[in-house]
Amino acid sequence: MKKAWINGRVLTGAEGTDPQPLEILTEAGRIVDLAPAVDRNGAELVDCGGALVTPALVDCHTHLVHGGDRAREFEMRLDGASYEDIARAGGGIVSTMRATRACSVDDLVASALPRLDHLLAEGVGTVEIKSGYGLRIETELDMLRAARRLAELRPVRVVTSWLAAHALPEDYKGRGADYVADVAIPGLEQAVAEGLVDAVDGFCEGIAFTVEELEPLFEAARAMGLPVKLHAEQLTRSGGTQLAARHGALSVDHLEYATAEDAAAMAAAGSVAVLLPGAYYMLREEQVPPVQALRAAGVPIALATDCNPGTSPVTSILMTLNMGAVLYRLTVAECLAGVTAHAARALRLGAETGRIAPGLSADFALWDAALPANLVNRIGFNPLKARVFKGDFV
Ligand code: NIG
Ligand code: FE
Repeated sequence: MKKAWINGRVLTGAEGTDPQPLEILTEAGRIVDLAPAVDRNGAELVDCGGALVTPALVDCHTHLVHGGDRAREFEMRLDGASYEDIARAGGGIVSTMRATRACSVDDLVASALPRLDHLLAEGVGTVEIKSGYGLRIETELDMLRAARRLAELRPVRVVTSWLAAHALPEDYKGRGADYVADVAIPGLEQAVAEGLVDAVDGFCEGIAFTVEELEPLFEAARAMGLPVKLHAEQLTRSGGTQLAARHGALSVDHLEYATAEDAAAMAAAGSVAVLLPGAYYMLREEQVPPVQALRAAGVPIALATDCNPGTSPVTSILMTLNMGAVLYRLTVAECLAGVTAHAARALRLGAETGRIAPGLSADFALWDAALPANLVNRIGFNPLKARVFKGDFV
């Protein structure tokens, strides 16, 4: 069935902030034409009523599936404990591990759904979801099974990442290389056999894994034909960006402590910089990622919620846009590309979604907004009018 989407002010998601009075022709869930006047012959007319039409948003870094809650640790941080203090004392990622291990796949799905629904209500059409709170094979697999199930329960595209190398469970304390060899790599093989994995991620940091420990995991990933990405330079400069770039990473994420050299390596590797201002804000970090160096090197910048129970309990992509602009001084155009075209590219979906262009999936968000800047400048206000996924209103 053909549909002609008319009377929209269209922002294609590639560049700029000037919506154009374009019509969109879709057929069987895909965009087939984009023009001032498309051929309406045989097409159902869909009147967008003057709405701002953008690509459906892409949240390219989340830990949406997990058990439990870390509000107590939030209170401890208000009392002066640091994120690293809490992690070293058995809190942090490992406390969410305990809660997640106690959950069934059904429990994980049930607790993730309201978080997912919050993202969808703000125009998200594609979401990346990581494992990383099981830290043993069975529970890591269950997290990704839950992520895949979410895509059956809601009209959304889910992309998964294997993040078994997120933290060390008690029984592997000080033995990162053993954990990678015993859990992260064999678990990845099982996850791949079950069709659960789209990419492989890791956390390179003093409180997590070193470059040397992650190297064999990334080699294994690439031998299985999987792309890699990495949490790097979040709390300290650990050299993870160089590792990721050497492996042609889809993205390097966080990057507060990255350098101009790191930006150059990312540019050469074609990696996207995924900035996560929610975690920066929640941790009261003071070091801003090297935005100017990323721009100068021509590295595409994406923004994501990093939705997780500890450092970024954020389920608002619109709030994330605002934080990207205010805290990192990104322009409105950069913020919008960061949750559309560049975020899709970070998921290897640049030819599938994140832009309004012929050949791509018909994933749109319709907004009651005079200007694209209205999606960025307001806090706590959601102007979404409608969401379209694969050519249908949802
Ligand atoms: O992206 N940086 C590592 N991982 C998460 C934090 C996870 C947690 O604290 O539970 C992040 O910020
Ligand atoms: Fe993260």
